[in-house]
Order: sequence, then structure tokens, then C-alpha cells
Amino acid sequence: MCKVRQSLQLTMALLKPDVIANPIVATEIKETILRNGFFFVQSRYLRLNRQKAEEFYQEHKGRFFYNRLVSFMSSGPISAHILVRDDAIRHWRQLMGPTKVFKTVYECPNSLRGRFGLTDTRNSMHGSDSEPTAEREIAFFFPEFDIARWYAKDGEYFL
Ligand code: TYD
Ligand code: MG
Repeated sequence: MCKVRQSLQLTMALLKPDVIANPIVATEIKETILRNGFFFVQSRYLRLNRQKAEEFYQEHKGRFFYNRLVSFMSSGPISAHILVRDDAIRHWRQLMGPTKVFKTVYECPNSLRGRFGLTDTRNSMHGSDSEPTAEREIAFFFPEFDIARWYAKDGEYFL
């Protein structure tokens, strides 16, 4: 008997300003996401002001890179995406690769950050790191999206 349906999970992806500034890179990244079994549930193109960038990265407040990070994230447009597949959070972080680009280019050169990351801060993408984080981040960028309802229906609205 074949398994018709897998248990689906949502995650939140951001394409950062370094990616959106380069349409060829942005297109390649979106195609890679699709080739790796994800679907785009919702997408939004936007620019964060400094206050919103600080709010999004509040867990890192006080770290040495915080000021650089929020300056970069508010420096230009980004795109936000709700992605879905089985085990989406883990798979998306694996496809992105490690945070630190110097490590990434040696250890995971085929990951998206390995291919496109510029520096530790300008590292091309963001991905939620857990289910509670994904819920908070989806609500941050897509306040109208009803996560509980989506899970209650096991994604049947979308797939
Ligand atoms: P973090 O949540 O640790 O990484 P990830 O994006 O892989 O979840 O950090 C958030 C962002 O902060 C990271 O994507 C880029 C920036 N950052 C730096 O600029 N320098 C650093 O040393 C670290 C750890 C993060
Ligand atoms: Mg993180």
C-alpha cells in the first residue's frame, strides 16, 4: 500500500535584501525551494523599517551583531514566504545551510548559503528554528493567516 499523504508542517522563510537585490539569485533560490519538495503557501514582498527589524530579531538584542543585522534587514526590500512540506522546518534549515558563511563554504558548499551567502550577516535567507518560532514568525509577517485552522484541516485548503 502506498502512503498517499504525509504529515505537513509550515515554516517561515525570508529572502534577505542581498537576494532581492539580485533577481537572478532570487529566482534560482525559489526554483531550488520548489525542486526540494516545498510548496509556497503565501508570499509577500515588503520592506521592514528599523523598528520592525528590531522587533523581529528581539531574541538577539545585545549580541555583537545585532545593530549590523537590523541595519541590513531594513536596508532594502525582502520577501517573506510560508513554506510547507513534511518536516519543513528541519528541511528548510538544512537547505539553507549553517549561519556562518565562512563555515558554510567549506562544510556545505552546495547549501543555499554556501552558494549565495556574502557574509555572516548578509547570509541570504532566514528560516524558523522550531514550531513555536515558526508560529510567531508567520503571525509577524502574515497576521491574517490562521495557522491553527490550517493545521486543523491538515493543509487541505492548499494542497
Ligand atoms: P541566528 O538566529 O543565530 O542564525 P540563523 O539565521 O541561522 O537562524 O542569527 C540570526 C541572524 O543574525 C543571522 O542569520 C545573521 C546574523 N548573525 C550575524 O550577523 N553574525 C553572527 O555571528 C550570528 C550568529 C548571526
Ligand atoms: Mg535563528
